[in-house]
Amino acid sequence: MSARHEERAEAAVSQEALRMRPNPIRALSKLLASPEVISFAGGVPSPATFPNERLAEIAARLLRDEGARVLQYGTTRGVPDLATRVVERMRRRAVAWPDEANVLVTSGSQQALDLVARVLVDPGDVVFVELPSYVGGLASLYAAGAELVGVRLTDEGPDATQLEESVARARGEGRRVRAIYTIPTFQNPSGITASGASRERLLDVAARYDLTIIEDDPYGEVYFSDDARPPSPIAALSGAADRVVYLGSFSKILCPGLRVGWVAAREDLTRRFELAKEAADLCSSILDQSVVASALAEGLVDARLPEIRSFYAERCAAMLAALAAYAPDGVTWTRPTGGLFVWVDLPEHVDARECLDAAVAAGVAYVPGAPFFVDGSGRNSLRLAFSKEDPVRIATGIRTLMPIVAGRERT
Ligand SMILES: Cc1ncc(COP(=O)(O)O)c(C=O)c1O
Repeated sequence: MSARHEERAEAAVSQEALRMRPNPIRALSKLLASPEVISFAGGVPSPATFPNERLAEIAARLLRDEGARVLQYGTTRGVPDLATRVVERMRRRAVAWPDEANVLVTSGSQQALDLVARVLVDPGDVVFVELPSYVGGLASLYAAGAELVGVRLTDEGPDATQLEESVARARGEGRRVRAIYTIPTFQNPSGITASGASRERLLDVAARYDLTIIEDDPYGEVYFSDDARPPSPIAALSGAADRVVYLGSFSKILCPGLRVGWVAAREDLTRRFELAKEAADLCSSILDQSVVASALAEGLVDARLPEIRSFYAERCAAMLAALAAYAPDGVTWTRPTGGLFVWVDLPEHVDARECLDAAVAAGVAYVPGAPFFVDGSGRNSLRLAFSKEDPVRIATGIRTLMPIVAGRERT
């Protein structure tokens, strides 16, 4: 497009449209899509964990027996039976909102991120995000006009001291600080889980500076063993109910194609999220919600969790063993106890994006780290998803990859 055409095209759209950013990972998808390549790139659950047959039976029954309901519009809040089961599920993890009035069912937790950003953020407001953070969450916040400020992520969770300094600095500059967006459990992209103490500190800083905590928790139930059960969500801590907006999802414990997630929060906020959703899509698919509600009622989700956990545990163990065997000095990585991701830090002079073409040519794909950082750092890091490949291919892929990402000489 010529510069003049581009100017005219930009004049035709809103400021919000101009703030929207393409997903930097999707932009790599052509490069990463080749079927021969061993892929650590796609951050999606394995289809091997989807209960296709059981879902087919449930969907067929619903369509046959309850077609008038499941093929109709429904309330914006969500299918009541599903909301009740969501409340039960949160209660099991000690997340303490009293009832359905605190829950809005959404089309995946991604929609919840979009609604929360619209409702909480005015253009120019400061929102703190982890370094690194989930690009889909960053996209929703950018679109709402947030100024994103990074907070270093340690092995224990976000650095609360740095957060406090950044809040004070932003306040000193007269900026409005709004919220912190955090994924405390088996984080995408790093695999890090914040300790109980780190969660307490975050809530304490948020309370003292009047920040809302946006807690995104799609991986909390995907722990690898009973010993690896994560600390309770921040939303379960005392004093959290007024301050935390909690996002959940069935994507990683059932399947992402039924687009069902939720947001839970104070009632007044939930009502505003509901208004934003009404404008966005009236309601999430009633068929999708009803299939998930039936799967929960039949115990299908709980029955499958042990299998899902050991499926990912085996793959993660293969990846950690391969890294221990093949990673040269100067390369470090996280050791997740749940979720789908391992994060790798390379020697400082290595640019993971620059190594990607050579890696793909050698038959291995990954996601370079920089897009997960809002401060322009992270070039010498990468994300490895262990969800797609089996343990043998994981070992082969890591053995192939390590010399490519670690072997470049300083130029
Ligand atoms: C941290 C995080 N939040 C939200 C989502 C969106 O999930 P969904 O919309 O399928 O619930 C994802 C998906 O990968 C994610 O990793």
